[in-house]
Amino acid sequence: MKVSDFKIHHVGVAVSDIHSAASVYRENGYLCTEPVFDPIQNVNICFAEKPDELRAELIEPASENSPVSDVLKKNGGNPEVYHICYSVPDIEQAISALREERWLLVKPPVHAVACGNAKVAFLYSREAGLIELLEEKS
Ligand code: NI
Repeated sequence: MKVSDFKIHHVGVAVSDIHSAASVYRENGYLCTEPVFDPIQNVNICFAEKPDELRAELIEPASENSPVSDVLKKNGGNPEVYHICYSVPDIEQAISALREERWLLVKPPVHAVACGNAKVAFLYSREAGLIELLEEKS
């Protein structure tokens, strides 16, 4: 099992102001969900969706010590696409397979409020960057 076997669920975009970002997506024909506060990741999240288009997740830091604050700081406060999320049927199995491919588990599975409490985890590869896995049972 490799990343190429997985289906992309969304790209994650770090933003300083989720309402301003969402209004730009709305002007461009996307439907945006209401922002949800995720206390585990300490961020506000909404999804921008349009039929047959790649879904974007807008992520705003809820405080200075959110992991997304660092992403924005490095980028001078500008929005940045910083992860690709893949949907997987079994997150533990996918993590084991990726670790064998030398991906590093940087955040073990937690329940994500903005994703209907589904499990998400983050892995990193020095060559390919940061990815998220979202468990979606089929
Ligand atoms: Ni995400």
